[in-house]
Amino acid sequence: MFCIDLSKRTALVTGSTRGIGRAVAEFLARAGARVAVTGRDLSRAQEVAKEIAQSCGVETLGLALDVGDHSSIREAYARVEELWGGVDVLVNNAGITRDKLFLRMGVEDWEEVLRVNLTGTFLMTSLAVKGMLKNRWGRVVNLSSVVGFTGNVGQVNYASTKSALIGFTKSLAKELASRNITVNAVAPGFIETDMTASLKEELRQEYLKNIPLGRFGKPEDVAGAVLFLCSPLADYITGEVLHVNGGMY
Ligand SMILES: NC(=O)c1ccc[n+]([C@@H]2O[C@H](COP(=O)([O-])OP(=O)(O)OC[C@H]3O[C@@H](n4cnc5c(N)ncnc54)[C@H](OP(=O)(O)O)[C@@H]3O)[C@@H](O)[C@H]2O)c1
Repeated sequence: MFCIDLSKRTALVTGSTRGIGRAVAEFLARAGARVAVTGRDLSRAQEVAKEIAQSCGVETLGLALDVGDHSSIREAYARVEELWGGVDVLVNNAGITRDKLFLRMGVEDWEEVLRVNLTGTFLMTSLAVKGMLKNRWGRVVNLSSVVGFTGNVGQVNYASTKSALIGFTKSLAKELASRNITVNAVAPGFIETDMTASLKEELRQEYLKNIPLGRFGKPEDVAGAVLFLCSPLADYITGEVLHVNGGMY
């Protein structure tokens, strides 16, 4: 019987107070990892960390971490280092949308999405890989999106960051492979979370028609793919993109 055992590992998941990030934090904890649950709201992060600790029987930590803010990233990571000496697994999950048609998109909509989705991933990873390099073991998983491959109306800013994360993933994978650090991406399709909750019913039905498996994804569908990439089953996979989209792309 296969059993994924991450009990000697420490993980940090950005944006793990809800949605996909929360499911990822839970799956890693169920595999035995110590997990830092993070988000912009400290009390929410602490509450979710406590719930995961109780349900999975592992040590967790709830931290305020805004990936759009350099000092918040530094402070949160310093706390993890102080308590746990760093992380073995980093999941760059936090992401935002600021959807607008291109002709209405202001530079502030562009810059905010780049700062959170792309620069946030760069800064988080820069800090986390230092310890991984020393330990000669690490797993980095970046959350891209199907729209980074297909493009999408109203998402020039968001889709650009999700494509860029693929270049980031593939390049960093090459740089870090000799130290036994793998860097992979997961590209979800349409997943039922707060991010997609506000979409109009008509548009949802339109998307559904293009999903061969006939349903929207659940956060757990994505969490399974992330857990796989962090597990020993994926030790020989790096620079790869795992599409989790019910067959739509
Ligand atoms: N849902 C989908 O259909 C879908 C499809 C493809 C890709 N994705 C990607 O998957 C990832 C997770 O998406 P989701 O649907 O789970 O999103 P979500 O439901 O909107 O949750 C986003 C999470 O990120 C946190 N967050 C937001 N801004 C942040 C910031 N500046 N710094 C740190 N944390 C922040 C939120 O917590 P706080 O608000 O408390 O900070 C929350 O925990 C994103 O990268 C998204 O682009 C989602």
